[in-house]
Amino acid sequence: MALLEISDLSLEFATRRGVTPVLHGINLSVGRGQIVGLVGETGSGKSVTGLSIARLVPSPPGRYTAGTVTFDGLDILSLSERDMRGLRGVRIGMVFQDPSTNLNPSFTVRSQMVDVGLHVAAVAPERLNLNPGAPARARHKAALDKAVHMLERVGIRDAARRIGSHPHEFSGGMRQRVLIAMALMGRPELLIADEPTTALDVTVQAQVLQLLYGLVREFNLAVVLITHNMGVVAQLCTDVAVMEAGIIVEAGPARQVLREPRHAYTRLLLGAVPSVHGRQRPSVGAAQ
Ligand SMILES: Nc1ncnc2c1ncn2[C@@H]1O[C@H](COP(=O)(O)OP(=O)(O)O)[C@@H](O)[C@H]1O
Ligand SMILES: [Mg+2]
Repeated sequence: MALLEISDLSLEFATRRGVTPVLHGINLSVGRGQIVGLVGETGSGKSVTGLSIARLVPSPPGRYTAGTVTFDGLDILSLSERDMRGLRGVRIGMVFQDPSTNLNPSFTVRSQMVDVGLHVAAVAPERLNLNPGAPARARHKAALDKAVHMLERVGIRDAARRIGSHPHEFSGGMRQRVLIAMALMGRPELLIADEPTTALDVTVQAQVLQLLYGLVREFNLAVVLITHNMGVVAQLCTDVAVMEAGIIVEAGPARQVLREPRHAYTRLLLGAVPSVHGRQRPSVGAAQ
């Protein structure tokens, strides 16, 4: 069984205006070293799929009507909230475009990263090389050291000083690097990244994707990379699952799906990125 297995997952939202089914029997399998691109138009169900893996779909209104999400043999949808907190931000890293994992403009990067580190120290002290009974001072120091180290790893120079800055003092690309550093602080095995570079201009996007690719390889992560951009899939992903209206209409190795898309909808998505039809991957180089 792969590290992450989503099996026959169906989700609906029950609102005052009625019940809307949004996922219809989703199947997705992601192992270590795999970067699975989840692609599709806005509203196709990519984000709710990603959120389901971390059990972050609000419920109500969300309601699973069938299926399972299994992470390393754990039945995610039936774990206690306490057990989930032990996974989120620790074994499962997340870069989402929502306030829960985004940077808060009011606090320094240091305070936000140290918070994440303290969470790791509380639920998985060994991941920060701490003893279970380590005193608060030691936990704080380990959290801060790890934060600075991770900022250096994502290419932020003079990290020990710059960690004291507020988010707005960083460029958009640097803020995304900070978010990636935060997501990796707990040494996760699985990373879920929801449109991590969509808001960035093309050059910066390529740099951040290249960084992400290097880290994924180095830490041998399993990755679910949500995007609506087939170019990103071509550059980065080992595998791809194409979603349309809550259904995975096509899935397989990225090379194969990009070269011989079988589903009309996949061909439509590819039509927006002529460069991926060539024999070589785009020259961003991240995939090499
Ligand atoms: N909290 C929510 N309440 C009600 N409907 C929601 C909620 N979150 C998402 N949806 C609906 O679920 C569908 C899939 O949304 P989403 O996963 O965000 O799409 P994508 O990420 O592919 O753009 C959409 O129709 C959206 O309106
Ligand atoms: Mg989305």
